[in-house]
Formats: sequence, structure tokens, C-alpha cells
Amino acid sequence: MTEESPTSGTARWTRAEEVNRLLPGRPIAMKLQGKHIALFLHEGEVLACNNRCPHEGYPLVEGTLDTNCVLTCNWHNWKFDLKTGATLYGGDTLRIYPAKVEAGAVWLDTREPPAVERIEEALRQLARAMDEYDTPRIARELARLGKAGAPPALALKHAIRATHARLRDGMTHAYAAAEVWLRLASTLPDAAERLACTTEALAHIAYDTLREREYPFYAGTAAWDAGRFAAAVEAQDEDGGGTLNGALTQGLHFADLELPLAGAALAHYNDFGHSLIYLMHVRRLVGELGAEVERPLLLAWLRSLVYATREDLLPDFAGYAEALAAWPARAQAPGTPLSADALEGQPVRGTIDRTLAAAALEPFDTYCALMEAAARHLLRFDERHALRTDNSVADNVGWLDFSHALTFGHALREQCARHPRLWPQGLLQLALFVGRNSGYLDPDTAAPAALREWAVADEAAFHQSAIAAIIDHGTGLPIFPAHWLKTWSAVREEVAAGLPPGARAALLAAANRLLGVRFKQRHTLRTARQALEFVGKEG
Ligand code: FES
Repeated sequence: MTEESPTSGTARWTRAEEVNRLLPGRPIAMKLQGKHIALFLHEGEVLACNNRCPHEGYPLVEGTLDTNCVLTCNWHNWKFDLKTGATLYGGDTLRIYPAKVEAGAVWLDTREPPAVERIEEALRQLARAMDEYDTPRIARELARLGKAGAPPALALKHAIRATHARLRDGMTHAYAAAEVWLRLASTLPDAAERLACTTEALAHIAYDTLREREYPFYAGTAAWDAGRFAAAVEAQDEDGGGTLNGALTQGLHFADLELPLAGAALAHYNDFGHSLIYLMHVRRLVGELGAEVERPLLLAWLRSLVYATREDLLPDFAGYAEALAAWPARAQAPGTPLSADALEGQPVRGTIDRTLAAAALEPFDTYCALMEAAARHLLRFDERHALRTDNSVADNVGWLDFSHALTFGHALREQCARHPRLWPQGLLQLALFVGRNSGYLDPDTAAPAALREWAVADEAAFHQSAIAAIIDHGTGLPIFPAHWLKTWSAVREEVAAGLPPGARAALLAAANRLLGVRFKQRHTLRTARQALEFVGKEG
């Protein structure tokens, strides 16, 4: 039953119901213009809202309206101010419809608010959902955002700007993985899968910033000076005289700063080269989301860089600086081509020496050999190391130690394709990671057998099943699907980059194995044993 209100003004009123059918305490459920609506009479005032509770859709007409005009949904006790739609207890906002009584009838304005308002409201509500790490609500708000016509990139842009200062230790995998999740989403035909990807991205950011206060960044600025920036990073001075701030304030952009930033990442690298991995994702995010995220991302990235573990200062990696210093001279010598066979199973000293011996050769060829060796090591990783509970802290080794060699290598190739002068640092660091992992291989598993076991025969089918497994991962902590996603994505990009057949097969097989294993996500018993032993030696 629709007709125009005799006195309609700017709103388009639709006749909804005879007013005398609406009684106090006897709300009416109805469908009007495709909407499920609940009509209430409260102290002589007609009020209308969506009959589907914004939580899980149960009918609000079955709820309880109190004398303060608070409507309670009896399924999970969410409470709404029926006059405004504000949620007093619960999450999502209730949609209310303007109502009036005229000519013996109830008239409703059921028009959608303008898209720009719906987008703003969805972004506001999404921020609240993220503050509470409420994944179902994050998904709903993202769905509302999409329904209002906004791309998921807008949500990510807002999320980065809202959360970057709450990352106490700087950038995490959440931003890095968000870049990959959104890129994957853009390739998927299924709306639910696309929303799952976006939800993962935002939920991971929410997880990493949950209940964190803001840790303000240094606000001072100084004229950009690449040398001063590098020195500040070396000094682990996050503020660094404000030189990065100064660069952005004086109008420089990521592209102008990329080489010194990458140089700093490789000079001051952390746990398995995260600094360079993150920088690649920062670059891609800036490219995708625009200059508005440059400052938030770069400040968060810089913070993570200066707090990074200095693995190059650890005794195990002592040969790195020496090899890097020797590189220019060795680059003049004929050189010994490097192969994965020569690297497989080698400790750090061996991988460094062999990489240095190839200094005069084409870096990409050395890179391919290192990546193939890294992949073979993942294929031969003795899973018992990841599962055991009786090891020392020094032997807390897991799948991600192996997957990071691949994701670092991926970031390295991309970076060095843009700035070839960075190859020596990068190749030697990759050699470190390959060598370090060699201590945890299964002595009973040879590479050819592992390659056969995990070989990918049909690459297209593998990628399809990998995507399905990553999206529907079923694990609790977002860091694990983030790593499966990033490793698979890195491998897919690397095999498309012209690797020789051996490296290509090894990388695909490694990704296949990584996605096929059962991850132990927590190590409480191991941690307890290590704590007892450690505390027992105190004092
Ligand atoms: S469906 Fe209404 S509170 Fe859950």
C-alpha cells in the first residue's frame, strides 16, 4: 500500500498502516518497499525501525520496549534508543525510519540516506568494530560500506590512519598482509570470498592494535638528509631529528626516498629481513591507497626498523660484515657460479662464503640459487623442531623461520630490480637465512624425495586450492593466515619472474608443503619448561 502523503515536503512519505491498528505494547511487523519494518507506539508517538536486529537479524518486533524508549532485542540483549537508533548495549546501529501520522495513517520515509552519509557512517562503525576486535561486526560494516558503493581500499586507508600510532613497536605483518589480502580480493569473482579477504585484513590490524593507546610519533621536522636519516636509524633513534618528517613536509614522496629507505632496511635489518619485506608492502600500499597513507606507514615502518633485532651483530652472523666489505674486490674476480646443490645443508659460514665467491656473477643467478636452496630447506624442515616441547630457547624454530627466507627473497628481488646496487647486502642476508635454517633439516629426507612428495603438477589448480585454503583457514590467530598468504603470494610472483625450472619447482613445492602442514600455534608447555629452567638458574 503506497501513495503520496497529502502534505509531503522534501521527504517522500509512504503510507504504511492505519494508525488505529497500532496500539501501545502491540508493535506491528510489516514489509514496505522491500524493507522489514517494526512499528511501535510509545507514549503516543509512532516510531519505526528495521525489524531485523542489526546483530543477527532476529525480529525486533518481539523485543521489549521500556518506558525510556529503550528497545531490547531479547535474543542477545542488545539495547537501542528507538528514537535515534543509537546502540546502547551491543554493536551495530539500528536503522530507524522517520514516521508521521496524517490522514488517519502512519507514513514512513524509507529512503536510503545519501551514499556519502552511509559511507561515513559505515567507516565510523567499522572503527568501533575494530576497536573491539569484533570480527563479525567488522565483516558487517565492510559489507555495508560496499553496499554504499565504497571500495575496500577506503576502509584500509582509514584503518591505517586511525591505528598507526597505536603500533607501539611500529609496523607489523597486519599492514603488510592487508596489502596482499586486498590485492587477492580484487581478483576474486565471489563476493563472500572478497569480503573474507577484506575482513581478514582489517581484523588483523584490529588484533595488533587492540587495547593499545597511542604512542605519538615525533612531530619535529628537519630538512631531509639521507645521511642523517641513515645515521639516526643506526643510532636506533626513532625521531632521527625529524628528517623523515621533514622530507614528507617538504613535499617529497616515497618514490623520492625509496633508495635511502631500502638502504637503511638492509643496513639495519631485523628478524629475517622484515624491514625490507615491510618496505615493499609500504610501497605497494602507497601506490594503491595514495599519499594520505605515506606518513602513517613510513613513520610506523621507521619505528619498526629502529627497534629491530640487530641480527648482524649476533655471533652466528659475524661473517656478514666481513663478506660485505670483501664484496667489491671479489666482484672483480672471475667468480664461481652458485647452485642450490652447493648451498643445501650448508651452515651460515658455507652459504656466506659461496655467495661471496659468486660476487662477480649475475646477481639474479645467485639469487635463484639461494631461493632454490631456501625452498629446499623448507621442504626438508624436520617438523619435530616445530612441535617439540623440550628444546632450549635458542632452538625455538618453526615454519615461519623458513617461510621468511622466501618472502625476504621476494622483497629483495623486487627491490634490487629497482636499485641493483643493493644486491650485495641482500644476497648476503639471504645467504644468512639459508644457512641458519640448515641446522633444522630432516637428515632422513633428501631434497629429491621432498620435491617429489610436494611437487606441484598443475600450477593453476594449485593456486586455486591455495587461495581456497588461505581464505577459509579456520585458525584463530591472524598472524598465521597472514604468513600463508604472503608466502604463497611471494612464491606466485617469483615463479612468474623467470626463475629457472629447478628453482621454480622448489618454490612451488615449498609453498605446497607450507600450506599442507598443521601449525602449532601456541607452545605453552615448551614455554613453561623453558621458564622453569631459566628461573632455576637465576640468582
Ligand atoms: S539478534 Fe538481536 S541481539 Fe542478537
